[in-house]
Amino acid sequence: MSTIKRQVMTLDEFTIQQLRDFPHATGELSGLLRDMGRAAKRVNVEVNKAGLVDILGDAGAVNVQGEDVKKLDIFANNQFQGVLQHGISCAGIASEELDDIVAFEDNVSCGSKYICMFDPLDGSGNIDVNVSIGTIFSVYRRVTPVGSPVTLEDFLQPGRKQVAAGYMVYGSSTMLVYGTRRGVNGFTLDPSIGEFCLSHPNIKTPEFGNIYSVNHGNFFQYATGVQKYIDLCQRKNKDNGGPYTQRYIGSMVADVHRNLIKGGIFMYPGTTAKPKGKLRLLYECNPFAFILEVAGGKATNGIERILDIQPTELHQRSPLFIGSRGMMEELESCL
Ligand code: AHG
Ligand code: MN
Ligand code: MN
Repeated sequence: MSTIKRQVMTLDEFTIQQLRDFPHATGELSGLLRDMGRAAKRVNVEVNKAGLVDILGDAGAVNVQGEDVKKLDIFANNQFQGVLQHGISCAGIASEELDDIVAFEDNVSCGSKYICMFDPLDGSGNIDVNVSIGTIFSVYRRVTPVGSPVTLEDFLQPGRKQVAAGYMVYGSSTMLVYGTRRGVNGFTLDPSIGEFCLSHPNIKTPEFGNIYSVNHGNFFQYATGVQKYIDLCQRKNKDNGGPYTQRYIGSMVADVHRNLIKGGIFMYPGTTAKPKGKLRLLYECNPFAFILEVAGGKATNGIERILDIQPTELHQRSPLFIGSRGMMEELESCL
């Protein structure tokens, strides 16, 4: 029998195809990923017209970390929360924009084995100036019994327990990238059909790259080891003897996505003012650490593997060093 050859595979088709390899799978995780993709399309529409409608600017509130909240942060949070709450594949969520976890109390949601955590809009300081922003999420299997409402314990799990993690970039094109233990795959939104289409199958990050990403403005606040490595980046490159290229957008999603594809290292070290840095372990560091490790890279806080850190609170921060294995090893020799 001849098979029909068609170029593109949509996110929905892909997640369903993955299921075929596991006849006993319930399809719950696939459902959750498709729900996230659906919400991302709505967020994408709003992000794209952010310059048109009067949705720009501060919402006037301050989030739990004491930072200004932009209106689109709240819009995005509500989209992801809403789609998961109405879906059947998630028992509860935690979000960078919410003080506490939200346990979905209806019978269907309580019957789900997964919880999801997300940074609904990352790099939101860049919205006003039309620079790429994104969403980051991670999925864990709950530890409390299925059928009961989830508790904080379900969310305070080390990152190595992630079942899946992903991100969306709302950039020059919109992408959704997600990883499970089986691999990392990237989908680009085709606006003409409104579908995420598989464009980057089985992503592996290069062993070495040419890019280092760090906020140079904080240089004198970094530990000597970090300064030493930045200095090295500016002097030598293992491959050709020249310096690495510095790239720093200020949206970690866009910075880490570029480095994942091209090879590179991204750093948000602790500073004298903020010894734990800025990034949140559960919403930013863990999902990217999971994706990079599956793609062949590495992620640490400078001392230990990000995925081994036992979280003690929902919104805790962590220094982050993440990227190509070879460059991470160069860094480690300086720290
Ligand atoms: P968010 O918009 O969710 O608060 O996160 C912004 C983060 C991250 O995306 C980015 O890499 C970092 O903040 C930039 O911080 P600096 O301006 O301190 O370099
Ligand atoms: Mn963020
Ligand atoms: Mn955010």
